[in-house]
Amino acid sequence: MANQFQILILNQISATGLKRLPERYTTGKDIKAPDAVLVRSADMHGMDIPASVRAIGRAGAGTNNIPVKAMSQRGVPVFNAPGANANAVKELVLVGMLLAARNIAGALDFVAKLDTADPEMDRKVEDGKKSFAGYELAGQTLGIIGLGKIGCLVADAAIKLGMNVYGYDPEITVDAAWSLPSQVRKAHSVAEVLKHAQFISLHVPLVDATRNLINADNIGTMKHGAVLLNFSREGVVNEAAVLAALAEKKLGRYVCDFPSAAINGRPGIIALPHLGASTQEAEENCAVMVADQLVDYLEHGNIQNA
Ligand code: MLT
Repeated sequence: MANQFQILILNQISATGLKRLPERYTTGKDIKAPDAVLVRSADMHGMDIPASVRAIGRAGAGTNNIPVKAMSQRGVPVFNAPGANANAVKELVLVGMLLAARNIAGALDFVAKLDTADPEMDRKVEDGKKSFAGYELAGQTLGIIGLGKIGCLVADAAIKLGMNVYGYDPEITVDAAWSLPSQVRKAHSVAEVLKHAQFISLHVPLVDATRNLINADNIGTMKHGAVLLNFSREGVVNEAAVLAALAEKKLGRYVCDFPSAAINGRPGIIALPHLGASTQEAEENCAVMVADQLVDYLEHGNIQNA
């Protein structure tokens, strides 16, 4: 008789992905003894993961919300979806650079507060036009730390926008190295990237080696007024160092995809609510990729991306 697996769904997972699971499977949010778990960004650290769980599918790239080590010790593979949302993140990184270069956040706020009945409105708009004038990305230098799928896509897009690009990744894969545009200069250290780039975009996972990668020691070596973009993970950047560098005008802007009590609303901060992978396309791609892997594992014992 065919298997009747039960899958615990911890987040909103795209219906297109859920349809990849055989109809005979039971899915739901209150399954007590699941065979597998499908999760997006819910934090599973500290969660009592039932002994029945044989596999976890993470509908995204980062697995830092899952106790991967503890699961490995139990022999439970954690599947993820590397690259499935890379295009969505790349597009938001481009938005992030433009938000900073063109002073968009301040300009939107200014317009929202304009009194359209004010007879002085035209003059005020002229003032706004002057005070929010920005600069173009073409000709600027972007430094990318982490040349996985997202980093490579960002490099390619930036080159097409006319930017100069430095890239650094001590663990670059052969595939990524081949996919990088030839114009990308290969840096040999984080320090080299920070020294040359006006925009620095981080595309590393959060692991011990990358925690506080940007910190009080190296933030001061950035170019004056540099823009730091963090669409990877909050812990990769030391927020206290960022606030100090912003206060000294050393750092021009910090654009990140994670609001936090320390930085929210502070001058120079542009924070988004973890929107990088939040497009319909990316959510579908991720859910399909992990659902297929879960089924392949549960039905046939095959392991990919674990
Ligand atoms: C990822 O690691 O790919 C993102 O965190 C995905 C998400 O927003 O769930």
